[in-house]
Amino acid sequence: MCEKITNNKEYFRDAWSIYEQVTALNYMEHQDIYEIVHQYIVKNYREPFSFLELGCGDARYSAKALLATAISNYTGVDLSLGGLNLAPKNLKNINCIVELKQQEMSDFLESCNSSFDLILISFALHHLSSKQKQVFLQQCWNCLNSKGTLLLIDVFCRNQETLPEYLARYCGHIQTQWQQIPSQSISKIVGHISTSDYPESESTLRHWAQEIGFNQVKLIYDGKHDVHKAFALIKNS
Ligand SMILES: C[S@@+](CC[C@H](N)C(=O)[O-])C[C@H]1O[C@@H](n2cnc3c(N)ncnc32)[C@H](O)[C@@H]1O
Repeated sequence: MCEKITNNKEYFRDAWSIYEQVTALNYMEHQDIYEIVHQYIVKNYREPFSFLELGCGDARYSAKALLATAISNYTGVDLSLGGLNLAPKNLKNINCIVELKQQEMSDFLESCNSSFDLILISFALHHLSSKQKQVFLQQCWNCLNSKGTLLLIDVFCRNQETLPEYLARYCGHIQTQWQQIPSQSISKIVGHISTSDYPESESTLRHWAQEIGFNQVKLIYDGKHDVHKAFALIKNS
């Protein structure tokens, strides 16, 4: 396991409660994004489907998006127990088989013998290097059924925006707009983002997805602050 991943494991174990405050205040637009995810699933997956969530954390928002869908089985994978320990409670109302694993997500995909109709990764890919992200997208493609979809929610930089420009823009937004988060917590969040976030642009994602063989890349949520976005990467349409 690389050093970057080990650092993230420690960060998320200590910081889960700060993250809960941020998402409860909708600062990362979870409520809006997951409403769209719910609608996407209901519209496109009417038959029983298998669902894999990578970096699932406590599955609080995915569980809501999966209510009243045709899901037949849910698999959740996360490195850290900080969120994962809370996932069974959040998933209890989903009427399907639930399996949770504490594992690094690329290792899980590499050794996985199953395939899935839907894979979700939400706010967990941006910690990887560009090379690791491309390998990860290929691994997801390999683990999707023929009509499968990868739902990718994350932070994105603008086309041509450098990492320092992106960090100044996003951290500046957090420092001025996340006003209900205590300043000590803001410092921790900004410190973490400044050393661990490596967002890609939409055009880079589209280029990689096309190279791997995804048939279509749909932007399904375009956030209010030009950072939080959700895409559906469709294997076969
Ligand atoms: C920002 S939280 C997002 C949680 C949830 N998916 C959401 O959208 O609210 C990132 C989660 O991804 C997990 N994570 C980060 N890198 C990971 C990796 N390489 N393998 C597995 N889990 C990872 C963290 O432990 C954490 O629970």
